[in-house]
Amino acid sequence: MTETSHLLKIEQGRDALYSDDVQSLKASFLNHLKYSLVKDGYSATKRDLYKCVALTVRDRLVQRWLKTQQDYYKVDAKRVYYLSLEFLIGRSLGNALESLGLYETMERAVEELGFDLRDLSEREWDAGLGNGGLGRLAACFMDSLATLGIPAYGYGIRYEYGIFFQRLRDGYQVETPDNWLRYGNPWEIERHEILFVVKFYGRVDEYLDSNGNLRHNWVDTQDVVAIAYDTPIPGYRNDRVNDLRLWAAKSTREFDLGYFQHGDYEKAVADKVLTETISKVLYPDDNAYQGKELRLRQEYFFVSATLKDIIRRYKKHRNDSFGEFAEKVAIQLNDTHPAIAIAELMRIFLDEELLEWDTAWGIVEKTFAYTNHTILPEALEKWPVALLGQVLPRHLQIIYEINRRFLGLVASLYPDDVDRLRRMSLIEEGDEKKVSMANLAIVGSHSINGVSALHSEILKEDLFRDFYDVWPQKFNNKTNGVTQRRFLKLCNPSLSRLISEYIGEAWVTDLSEIRKLTTLVDDTGFLKRWYEIKLENKRFLAKCIKEHEDVEVNPVSLFDCQLKRIHEYKRQLLNAMHVIYLYNRIKENPSVSAEPRTVIFAGKAAPGYYMAKLIIKLINSIAQKVNGDPDVGDKLKVVFIENYSVTISEHLLPASELSEQISTAGTEASGTGNMKFALNGAITIGTLDGANIEIRQEVGESNFFDFGLKKEEVIDLKHKGYNPRAYYEGDPYLREVLDMISRGDFSPGDPTLFHPIIGSVLDHGDTYLVLADFDSYVKCQQRVSDTHRDWKKWAKMSIMNTAGMGYFSSDRTIREYAEDIWNVTPLKKTF
Ligand code: IMP
Repeated sequence: MTETSHLLKIEQGRDALYSDDVQSLKASFLNHLKYSLVKDGYSATKRDLYKCVALTVRDRLVQRWLKTQQDYYKVDAKRVYYLSLEFLIGRSLGNALESLGLYETMERAVEELGFDLRDLSEREWDAGLGNGGLGRLAACFMDSLATLGIPAYGYGIRYEYGIFFQRLRDGYQVETPDNWLRYGNPWEIERHEILFVVKFYGRVDEYLDSNGNLRHNWVDTQDVVAIAYDTPIPGYRNDRVNDLRLWAAKSTREFDLGYFQHGDYEKAVADKVLTETISKVLYPDDNAYQGKELRLRQEYFFVSATLKDIIRRYKKHRNDSFGEFAEKVAIQLNDTHPAIAIAELMRIFLDEELLEWDTAWGIVEKTFAYTNHTILPEALEKWPVALLGQVLPRHLQIIYEINRRFLGLVASLYPDDVDRLRRMSLIEEGDEKKVSMANLAIVGSHSINGVSALHSEILKEDLFRDFYDVWPQKFNNKTNGVTQRRFLKLCNPSLSRLISEYIGEAWVTDLSEIRKLTTLVDDTGFLKRWYEIKLENKRFLAKCIKEHEDVEVNPVSLFDCQLKRIHEYKRQLLNAMHVIYLYNRIKENPSVSAEPRTVIFAGKAAPGYYMAKLIIKLINSIAQKVNGDPDVGDKLKVVFIENYSVTISEHLLPASELSEQISTAGTEASGTGNMKFALNGAITIGTLDGANIEIRQEVGESNFFDFGLKKEEVIDLKHKGYNPRAYYEGDPYLREVLDMISRGDFSPGDPTLFHPIIGSVLDHGDTYLVLADFDSYVKCQQRVSDTHRDWKKWAKMSIMNTAGMGYFSSDRTIREYAEDIWNVTPLKKTF
């Protein structure tokens, strides 16, 4: 018997100890309390008890994780690698229990031990390793990949600090660090033995190999060690558990005897701290690129360690041949943040594996695929050549060589078109030369996708038009999706139960089933229950708002929600201006029978984004005035919920009725919040932007409140010369709203406080056309209010929204990636 098979036998024997019945769960729990946490009935805190539950669940995940990984080897599966700087996971306990089918059993086990599972679940700290849509999409994809049984791995950074905590002080956003690892993270498995050295800086030496070929050596580098931390990602009831591997930076200085021998201990420690800052903190910017050296180092750090790990795994049962690499490895780049991987894989192939350029490039192109997430110019990554050359000198050489060959191809296709060459070059000329990471990602990938139908069209027709001309076959669309398991089943249990009672449970893994709800819109009994569940969810939220924000909201009022990052293009300002408009109508005639509304905002602004932070202050100032006005009573309330997070979204979505998706047409790539709201029965008020267009199509035009300029009209208006002042002069309601802000009605102590906001729309061009869309928005909101008066009509529309969400499951999105881009098929459950 070999040592390995002996171990496998022991491993299987131990599994009997980790069964899924109440007694075993209790035994595991108590075992962890005593032997993992070293606590007893005297010393255990609620957090300890939560940890014991989490570790008990983790044991069950680990069993399935090992089996899943072994199965992948058994069939020599093609693996998908999802590279992302962000994974916005939120909490894991509820999701893991649901996936394992253990929720009720664990509830009973915990109850028999004298505790309440829901109460303990509240102790879990969100894993907030992302900013917004892009990071949450990565987390939804991980869930769908595991549920579909696709051999997949997420790779990213284990930030010590996730997205900052947002506190409101006097209505202003104040940031505090998210020290999420302070009490340990029961989900992760530290892999001290899985580490890779990542190089930075240094210089490149040239030499001739034995065949007389010019070769390169990257030397005199400063090295950092990447250590792996694994988080198990369970599939839903399929015994599959995939791996999310996050890298932490460790200094190599600890091992650098040189420093110690020279007695420079302080320097050794200082360097260690500096190196380890690489994985210290997530950059808190959404849809904006800052160009910081540390960010470039983060990008390269995780990419380099990841590729080394991928190659290690690929080589495990192969000799040094890379012939099958692209048949066994698919790498998806979540935006350009990991795009340096294209140069890094070339470097490994050329300098370490000694492949020829053409062979290496052929594999690289077949391996990588790139997802674009935004067309906002300020978000496109362009690294200064000088900086990139300093941090990654060998990669800059490789990028220049990729560019030289690529431009040769373009020149052969378009002779004498110098302008085209300039536009397509990976190197942007100018005062400061820059490397365009999007161009690198396009050239080095076989697939480029946008994230909604409209967005993908914009990529082909506008942003990447030149590349589309050369390689039309590379471009495709993959409309985003969300996981219905977290964003309906888990977060809205009463609605989920109702749905399953009527149409069965199949929707949990096949969301197209949800369309069956359309047959129930004329069933009054069903409508009533649908309405009552929403009302109950609203009552519960109203109670939380009273507790946390000390605002009394009317539970039968329309719950009108805008939950997303604060950004000018997302136009929270337009929403805030509508609130002022409504306030004015009530003040004009306090006895008017207005349809009551509660307008709820939540979202973080990037700490350095002045205008977004001022908009938060404006919303809070409006809230203060409106909520305190006795003329208004419960007809209108405004609430800003601080520190928006995945968990808070799970609390808000079930109570939402109106979903604000009001970006300027042509600016939001997709949006995924829009899908989560509709899934929970909220009706969208939205522009024809991003995935809103497809949502409207699926739920039916009559079940969607659309307003505002369309993308072509936006372009047209800007082209003709947009004059926001003309709108101001021409619309007395709009003028009244802006004049009130301008006069200081919402900032009596400091009347000029909000002048920069007024200046941005009146004097600086109103980039996002807030004034141009104001009238259309207000009129549409009037239709919303009129519809909401009729509960039956509203409930029908709400059902049609949930029923129309089949297409927006991330399961569908992932199936499309798997078929069209990765060429992988889901593995069957058993082998
Ligand atoms: P990795 O793929 O090398 O990162 O290993 C992940 C897991 O896959 C290990 O913990 C094992 O459970 C499993 N594994 C690794 N190598 C093999 C193999 O050669 N055959 C079967 N399973 C393996």
